[in-house]
Amino acid sequence: MKAAVVVEPNKVEIQDIGIPEIKGDEVLIKVKTVGVCGSDLHLFKGTHAFRKPPAVLGHEVAGEIIKIGNDVTNFKVGDRVTVEPHIGCGKCEYCIKNLINLCSNKCVPGTESWGGTFADYFNAPQNKVYKIADHISDEIATLIEPLAVGIHAIERISVPERDTIAILGSGTIGLLTLVAAREAGYKHIICTDTQPFNLKMAERHGAALALNPLEEDVAAKILEFTNGRGVDVAIVAADSKVIVDQAASIVRKRGEVGIVAMITQQIPVNTYQFVFNEISLFGAMTYETKDFKKACKLINEGLDISDFITQRLPLNQSQQALDILSEKKENVVKVIVEVNQ
Ligand SMILES: NC(=O)c1ccc[n+]([C@@H]2O[C@H](COP(=O)([O-])OP(=O)(O)OC[C@H]3O[C@@H](n4cnc5c(N)ncnc54)[C@H](O)[C@@H]3O)[C@@H](O)[C@H]2O)c1
Ligand SMILES: [Zn+2]
Ligand SMILES: [Zn+2]
Repeated sequence: MKAAVVVEPNKVEIQDIGIPEIKGDEVLIKVKTVGVCGSDLHLFKGTHAFRKPPAVLGHEVAGEIIKIGNDVTNFKVGDRVTVEPHIGCGKCEYCIKNLINLCSNKCVPGTESWGGTFADYFNAPQNKVYKIADHISDEIATLIEPLAVGIHAIERISVPERDTIAILGSGTIGLLTLVAAREAGYKHIICTDTQPFNLKMAERHGAALALNPLEEDVAAKILEFTNGRGVDVAIVAADSKVIVDQAASIVRKRGEVGIVAMITQQIPVNTYQFVFNEISLFGAMTYETKDFKKACKLINEGLDISDFITQRLPLNQSQQALDILSEKKENVVKVIVEVNQ
Protein backbone atom coordinates (compact mmCIF):
# COMPACT_ATOMS: atom_id res chain seq x y z
CA MET A 1 0.00 0.00 0.00
CA LYS A 2 1.01 3.65 -0.43
CA ALA A 3 1.94 5.67 2.64
CA ALA A 4 3.36 9.17 3.25
CA VAL A 5 6.52 8.67 5.29
CA VAL A 6 8.65 11.38 6.91
CA VAL A 7 12.04 9.87 6.04
CA GLU A 8 14.12 12.60 7.66
CA PRO A 9 13.26 16.03 9.05
CA ASN A 10 11.57 18.18 6.36
CA LYS A 11 11.32 15.35 3.83
CA VAL A 12 8.24 13.28 2.97
CA GLU A 13 8.29 10.34 0.56
CA ILE A 14 5.40 8.28 -0.78
CA GLN A 15 6.53 4.71 -0.14
CA ASP A 16 5.13 1.27 -0.81
CA ILE A 17 4.81 -0.47 2.56
CA GLY A 18 3.03 -3.59 3.82
CA ILE A 19 -0.69 -3.53 4.64
CA PRO A 20 -1.05 -3.82 8.46
CA GLU A 21 -1.85 -7.32 9.78
CA ILE A 22 -4.88 -7.20 12.08
CA LYS A 23 -5.18 -8.93 15.45
CA GLY A 24 -8.37 -10.64 16.65
CA ASP A 25 -9.85 -7.50 18.22
CA GLU A 26 -8.84 -5.18 15.38
CA VAL A 27 -10.45 -3.83 12.23
CA LEU A 28 -8.73 -2.87 8.98
CA ILE A 29 -9.87 0.48 7.65
CA LYS A 30 -9.61 1.64 4.05
CA VAL A 31 -8.59 5.26 4.64
CA LYS A 32 -10.71 7.90 2.90
CA THR A 33 -9.63 11.22 4.41
CA VAL A 34 -6.98 12.28 6.93
CA GLY A 35 -6.28 15.62 8.56
CA VAL A 36 -2.97 17.43 8.70
CA CYS A 37 -2.40 18.35 12.36
CA GLY A 38 0.08 20.64 14.10
CA SER A 39 1.70 17.52 15.55
CA ASP A 40 2.27 16.14 12.02
CA LEU A 41 4.19 19.36 11.39
CA HIS A 42 6.26 18.67 14.50
CA LEU A 43 7.05 15.15 13.23
CA PHE A 44 7.87 16.64 9.82
CA LYS A 45 10.23 19.25 11.29
CA GLY A 46 11.78 16.83 13.79
CA THR A 47 10.46 18.76 16.84
CA HIS A 48 7.82 16.25 18.04
CA ALA A 49 8.23 15.02 21.61
CA PHE A 50 7.99 11.30 20.73
CA ARG A 51 7.17 10.88 17.02
CA LYS A 52 10.52 10.66 15.25
CA PRO A 53 11.39 10.05 11.57
CA PRO A 54 11.19 7.65 9.85
CA ALA A 55 7.44 7.47 10.52
CA VAL A 56 4.16 7.43 8.63
CA LEU A 57 2.27 10.72 9.10
CA GLY A 58 -1.18 11.15 10.56
CA HIS A 59 -3.59 10.22 13.32
CA GLU A 60 -6.82 11.93 12.21
CA VAL A 61 -8.84 9.61 10.00
CA ALA A 62 -12.15 8.66 8.44
CA GLY A 63 -12.60 5.51 6.40
CA GLU A 64 -14.45 2.30 5.76
CA ILE A 65 -13.93 -1.07 7.44
CA ILE A 66 -12.84 -3.66 4.90
CA LYS A 67 -11.83 -6.50 7.23
CA ILE A 68 -12.53 -7.48 10.85
CA GLY A 69 -10.61 -9.71 13.27
CA ASN A 70 -12.18 -12.93 14.62
CA ASP A 71 -13.11 -11.35 17.96
CA VAL A 72 -14.69 -8.17 16.58
CA THR A 73 -18.35 -7.95 17.55
CA ASN A 74 -19.22 -4.25 17.34
CA PHE A 75 -18.44 -3.60 13.67
CA LYS A 76 -18.90 -5.13 10.25
CA VAL A 77 -17.29 -4.73 6.87
CA GLY A 78 -18.65 -1.58 5.21
CA ASP A 79 -19.05 0.48 8.40
CA ARG A 80 -17.78 4.06 8.08
CA VAL A 81 -15.64 4.91 11.10
CA THR A 82 -13.11 7.13 12.81
CA VAL A 83 -10.49 6.19 15.43
CA GLU A 84 -9.55 7.55 18.86
CA PRO A 85 -5.82 7.28 18.24
CA HIS A 86 -4.21 6.26 21.51
CA ILE A 87 -4.05 2.97 23.40
CA GLY A 88 -3.09 2.95 27.07
CA CYS A 89 -1.03 0.24 28.78
CA GLY A 90 -4.21 -0.60 30.74
CA LYS A 91 -2.31 -1.15 33.98
CA CYS A 92 -0.92 2.14 35.24
CA GLU A 93 -2.53 4.53 37.73
CA TYR A 94 -3.72 6.78 34.88
CA CYS A 95 -5.13 4.06 32.64
CA ILE A 96 -7.11 2.75 35.61
CA LYS A 97 -8.63 6.24 35.95
CA ASN A 98 -9.40 6.30 32.19
CA LEU A 99 -6.69 8.91 31.64
CA ILE A 100 -5.04 7.23 28.65
CA ASN A 101 -3.76 10.63 27.57
CA LEU A 102 -1.47 10.57 30.61
CA CYS A 103 -0.24 6.97 30.29
CA SER A 104 3.55 6.98 29.95
CA ASN A 105 3.44 3.79 27.89
CA LYS A 106 0.56 4.64 25.58
CA CYS A 107 0.74 3.54 21.99
CA VAL A 108 0.00 6.18 19.32
CA PRO A 109 0.08 6.24 15.52
CA GLY A 110 3.25 7.21 13.73
CA THR A 111 5.48 5.19 16.04
CA GLU A 112 7.13 1.80 15.69
CA SER A 113 4.18 -0.07 17.18
CA TRP A 114 1.37 1.58 15.19
CA GLY A 115 1.33 2.90 11.62
CA GLY A 116 0.05 6.32 10.63
CA THR A 117 -3.18 7.28 8.88
CA PHE A 118 -1.52 8.83 5.78
CA ALA A 119 -1.76 5.42 4.12
CA ASP A 120 -4.19 3.35 2.09
CA TYR A 121 -5.05 1.20 5.13
CA PHE A 122 -4.99 1.70 8.90
CA ASN A 123 -5.69 -0.81 11.68
CA ALA A 124 -7.27 -0.15 15.08
CA PRO A 125 -8.71 -2.17 17.99
CA GLN A 126 -12.50 -2.13 18.00
CA ASN A 127 -12.72 -0.29 21.33
CA LYS A 128 -11.00 2.71 19.72
CA VAL A 129 -13.31 2.77 16.70
CA TYR A 130 -16.45 4.95 16.37
CA LYS A 131 -19.15 4.93 13.72
CA ILE A 132 -19.74 7.92 11.47
CA ALA A 133 -23.41 8.77 10.86
CA ASP A 134 -24.62 8.16 7.28
CA HIS A 135 -25.26 11.82 6.48
CA ILE A 136 -21.85 13.00 7.78
CA SER A 137 -19.04 13.26 5.21
CA ASP A 138 -15.65 11.65 5.67
CA GLU A 139 -13.87 14.99 5.79
CA ILE A 140 -16.12 16.36 8.54
CA ALA A 141 -15.70 13.13 10.51
CA THR A 142 -11.93 13.66 10.25
CA LEU A 143 -12.43 16.73 12.49
CA ILE A 144 -13.72 14.60 15.40
CA GLU A 145 -10.17 14.07 16.72
CA PRO A 146 -9.11 17.75 16.83
CA LEU A 147 -12.57 18.69 18.17
CA ALA A 148 -11.93 16.26 21.04
CA VAL A 149 -8.74 18.26 21.81
CA GLY A 150 -10.82 21.45 22.07
CA ILE A 151 -13.45 19.74 24.21
CA HIS A 152 -10.77 18.41 26.56
CA ALA A 153 -9.20 21.88 26.94
CA ILE A 154 -12.61 23.20 28.02
CA GLU A 155 -13.27 20.20 30.30
CA ARG A 156 -9.97 20.88 32.11
CA ILE A 157 -11.19 24.29 33.31
CA SER A 158 -12.07 24.38 36.99
CA VAL A 159 -13.22 28.01 37.30
CA PRO A 160 -17.00 27.60 37.64
CA GLU A 161 -18.07 30.91 36.02
CA ARG A 162 -18.74 30.61 32.31
CA ASP A 163 -18.95 34.27 31.53
CA THR A 164 -15.86 35.17 29.48
CA ILE A 165 -13.12 33.09 27.91
CA ALA A 166 -10.23 34.15 25.66
CA ILE A 167 -8.68 31.76 23.17
CA LEU A 168 -5.25 32.88 21.99
CA GLY A 169 -4.65 31.47 18.50
CA SER A 170 -7.45 30.61 16.06
CA GLY A 171 -5.98 27.79 14.01
CA THR A 172 -7.81 24.45 13.91
CA ILE A 173 -7.33 23.83 17.63
CA GLY A 174 -8.20 27.37 18.71
CA LEU A 175 -11.33 27.43 16.53
CA LEU A 176 -12.46 24.00 17.70
CA THR A 177 -11.85 25.13 21.30
CA LEU A 178 -14.09 28.10 20.48
CA VAL A 179 -16.77 25.67 19.26
CA ALA A 180 -16.37 23.59 22.44
CA ALA A 181 -16.58 26.73 24.63
CA ARG A 182 -19.73 27.83 22.82
CA GLU A 183 -21.28 24.37 23.29
CA ALA A 184 -20.27 24.47 26.98
CA GLY A 185 -22.21 27.71 27.42
CA TYR A 186 -19.53 30.42 27.64
CA LYS A 187 -21.33 33.73 27.14
CA HIS A 188 -18.53 35.86 25.70
CA ILE A 189 -15.71 34.29 23.69
CA ILE A 190 -12.73 36.37 22.63
CA CYS A 191 -10.28 35.02 20.05
CA THR A 192 -6.93 36.23 18.78
CA ASP A 193 -4.85 35.40 15.73
CA THR A 194 -2.27 37.08 13.55
CA GLN A 195 -4.16 36.12 10.35
CA PRO A 196 -7.25 38.17 9.35
CA PHE A 197 -8.80 35.07 7.72
CA ASN A 198 -8.68 33.10 10.98
CA LEU A 199 -10.16 36.06 12.89
CA LYS A 200 -13.09 36.21 10.45
CA MET A 201 -13.63 32.49 10.93
CA ALA A 202 -13.67 32.96 14.72
CA GLU A 203 -16.27 35.72 14.40
CA ARG A 204 -18.41 33.59 12.10
CA HIS A 205 -18.42 30.83 14.73
CA GLY A 206 -19.45 33.03 17.61
CA ALA A 207 -16.47 35.06 18.87
CA ALA A 208 -17.74 38.33 20.36
CA LEU A 209 -14.33 39.91 19.80
CA ALA A 210 -11.54 38.85 17.41
CA LEU A 211 -8.21 40.59 17.94
CA ASN A 212 -4.95 40.70 16.01
CA PRO A 213 -1.93 41.04 18.35
CA LEU A 214 0.13 42.46 15.48
CA GLU A 215 -2.25 45.37 15.07
CA GLU A 216 -3.87 46.07 18.41
CA ASP A 217 -3.18 45.95 22.13
CA VAL A 218 -4.90 42.67 22.95
CA ALA A 219 -4.68 43.09 26.72
CA ALA A 220 -6.07 46.64 26.65
CA LYS A 221 -8.96 45.64 24.37
CA ILE A 222 -9.87 42.62 26.50
CA LEU A 223 -9.74 44.61 29.74
CA GLU A 224 -11.96 47.26 28.13
CA PHE A 225 -14.42 44.57 26.96
CA THR A 226 -14.59 43.07 30.46
CA ASN A 227 -14.89 46.46 32.26
CA GLY A 228 -11.38 46.11 33.65
CA ARG A 229 -12.04 42.74 35.26
CA GLY A 230 -10.36 40.35 32.80
CA VAL A 231 -11.63 37.03 31.45
CA ASP A 232 -12.40 34.01 33.63
CA VAL A 233 -10.13 31.76 31.58
CA ALA A 234 -7.57 32.13 28.80
CA ILE A 235 -6.61 29.17 26.62
CA VAL A 236 -3.27 29.30 24.80
CA ALA A 237 -3.64 27.68 21.37
CA ALA A 238 -0.70 29.29 19.56
CA ASP A 239 3.05 29.11 19.99
CA SER A 240 4.71 32.44 20.78
CA LYS A 241 7.35 33.65 23.23
CA VAL A 242 5.05 36.10 25.01
CA ILE A 243 1.77 34.23 24.84
CA VAL A 244 1.67 32.81 28.40
CA ASP A 245 2.39 36.28 29.82
CA GLN A 246 -0.26 37.70 27.55
CA ALA A 247 -2.74 35.09 28.79
CA ALA A 248 -1.97 35.86 32.44
CA SER A 249 -2.33 39.60 31.81
CA ILE A 250 -5.93 39.25 30.56
CA VAL A 251 -7.21 36.79 33.18
CA ARG A 252 -9.12 38.03 36.23
CA LYS A 253 -7.96 37.37 39.79
CA ARG A 254 -8.42 33.68 40.70
CA GLY A 255 -8.91 32.96 37.00
CA GLU A 256 -7.17 30.27 34.97
CA VAL A 257 -4.72 29.95 32.10
CA GLY A 258 -4.76 26.69 30.13
CA ILE A 259 -2.05 25.68 27.68
CA VAL A 260 -3.02 23.41 24.82
CA ALA A 261 -0.34 24.62 22.37
CA MET A 262 2.90 22.71 22.05
CA ILE A 263 5.36 25.53 22.68
CA THR A 264 8.51 23.93 21.38
CA GLN A 265 11.05 26.17 23.08
CA GLN A 266 11.51 27.31 26.65
CA ILE A 267 9.91 30.71 27.14
CA PRO A 268 10.25 33.26 29.95
CA VAL A 269 7.15 33.68 32.14
CA ASN A 270 6.40 36.55 34.52
CA THR A 271 5.37 34.55 37.58
CA TYR A 272 4.28 37.67 39.50
CA GLN A 273 1.05 37.83 37.50
CA PHE A 274 0.21 34.31 38.65
CA VAL A 275 1.12 35.00 42.28
CA PHE A 276 -0.35 38.46 42.80
CA ASN A 277 -3.63 37.55 41.08
CA GLU A 278 -3.76 33.91 42.28
CA ILE A 279 -4.11 32.64 38.72
CA SER A 280 -3.98 28.88 38.16
CA LEU A 281 -2.16 27.32 35.23
CA PHE A 282 -3.08 23.98 33.64
CA GLY A 283 -2.05 21.92 30.64
CA ALA A 284 -4.40 19.99 28.36
CA MET A 285 -3.05 16.90 26.60
CA THR A 286 -5.15 15.41 23.78
CA TYR A 287 -8.37 14.00 25.30
CA GLU A 288 -10.00 11.40 27.47
CA THR A 289 -12.30 8.85 25.87
CA LYS A 290 -15.31 10.76 27.21
CA ASP A 291 -14.15 13.88 25.32
CA PHE A 292 -13.71 11.87 22.12
CA LYS A 293 -17.21 10.42 22.51
CA LYS A 294 -18.61 13.91 23.00
CA ALA A 295 -16.85 15.09 19.82
CA CYS A 296 -18.31 12.12 17.89
CA LYS A 297 -21.77 12.91 19.16
CA LEU A 298 -21.57 16.61 18.25
CA ILE A 299 -20.33 15.87 14.73
CA ASN A 300 -22.72 12.98 14.14
CA GLU A 301 -25.56 15.28 15.22
CA GLY A 302 -24.61 17.71 12.48
CA LEU A 303 -22.38 20.38 14.09
CA ASP A 304 -21.61 22.68 11.16
CA ILE A 305 -17.88 23.25 10.92
CA SER A 306 -17.45 22.48 7.23
CA ASP A 307 -15.86 25.88 6.53
CA PHE A 308 -12.88 24.90 8.71
CA ILE A 309 -11.77 22.67 5.84
CA THR A 310 -9.88 25.03 3.58
CA GLN A 311 -7.71 22.77 1.37
CA ARG A 312 -7.96 19.24 -0.03
CA LEU A 313 -4.97 17.45 -1.57
CA PRO A 314 -4.25 13.89 -2.69
CA LEU A 315 -1.90 11.60 -0.73
CA ASN A 316 0.95 12.05 -3.20
CA GLN A 317 0.92 15.78 -2.34
CA SER A 318 1.31 15.22 1.42
CA GLN A 319 4.48 17.31 1.47
CA GLN A 320 2.59 20.25 -0.08
CA ALA A 321 -0.24 19.73 2.44
CA LEU A 322 2.27 20.11 5.30
CA ASP A 323 3.87 23.15 3.62
CA ILE A 324 0.48 24.91 3.34
CA LEU A 325 -0.09 24.58 7.10
CA SER A 326 3.51 25.39 7.96
CA GLU A 327 4.07 28.42 5.73
CA LYS A 328 0.55 29.95 5.99
CA LYS A 329 1.02 31.76 2.68
CA GLU A 330 -2.63 31.14 1.86
CA ASN A 331 -5.76 31.27 4.01
CA VAL A 332 -5.79 28.00 5.93
CA VAL A 333 -7.47 26.31 8.85
CA LYS A 334 -7.62 22.55 8.19
CA VAL A 335 -5.89 20.79 5.32
CA ILE A 336 -7.44 17.45 4.39
CA VAL A 337 -5.53 14.77 2.49
CA GLU A 338 -7.80 12.57 0.40
CA VAL A 339 -6.53 9.02 0.24
CA ASN A 340 -8.99 6.58 -1.37
CA GLN A 341 -11.69 8.82 -2.82
N1 LIG B 1 -2.33 19.59 23.61
C1 LIG B 1 -2.66 18.81 22.61
O1 LIG B 1 -3.07 17.68 22.80
C2 LIG B 1 -2.57 19.33 21.21
C3 LIG B 1 -3.21 18.66 20.17
C4 LIG B 1 -3.14 19.18 18.88
C5 LIG B 1 -2.39 20.33 18.66
N2 LIG B 1 -1.74 20.94 19.70
C6 LIG B 1 -0.96 22.17 19.53
O2 LIG B 1 -1.84 23.26 19.54
C7 LIG B 1 -1.29 24.33 18.79
C8 LIG B 1 -2.30 24.81 17.77
O3 LIG B 1 -2.54 23.77 16.83
P1 LIG B 1 -3.23 24.09 15.43
O4 LIG B 1 -3.37 22.81 14.72
O5 LIG B 1 -4.41 24.95 15.63
O6 LIG B 1 -2.05 24.94 14.76
P2 LIG B 1 -2.14 26.08 13.69
O7 LIG B 1 -0.76 26.38 13.26
O8 LIG B 1 -3.18 25.74 12.68
O9 LIG B 1 -2.74 27.34 14.51
C9 LIG B 1 -2.01 28.25 15.23
C10 LIG B 1 -2.66 29.61 14.99
O10 LIG B 1 -2.03 30.55 15.83
C11 LIG B 1 -1.88 31.76 15.12
N3 LIG B 1 -0.85 32.55 15.80
C12 LIG B 1 0.49 32.57 15.61
N4 LIG B 1 1.07 33.42 16.47
C13 LIG B 1 0.07 33.93 17.23
C14 LIG B 1 0.02 34.88 18.30
N5 LIG B 1 1.12 35.44 18.77
N6 LIG B 1 -1.18 35.16 18.84
C15 LIG B 1 -2.32 34.60 18.38
N7 LIG B 1 -2.33 33.71 17.36
C16 LIG B 1 -1.15 33.39 16.81
C17 LIG B 1 -1.57 31.32 13.70
O11 LIG B 1 -1.85 32.32 12.76
C18 LIG B 1 -2.48 30.11 13.55
O12 LIG B 1 -3.73 30.45 13.00
C19 LIG B 1 -0.01 23.78 18.18
O13 LIG B 1 1.07 24.17 19.00
C20 LIG B 1 -0.20 22.29 18.25
O14 LIG B 1 1.00 21.58 18.28
C21 LIG B 1 -1.83 20.46 20.96
ZN1 LIG C 1 -4.60 15.97 15.64
ZN1 LIG D 1 -1.12 3.21 31.26
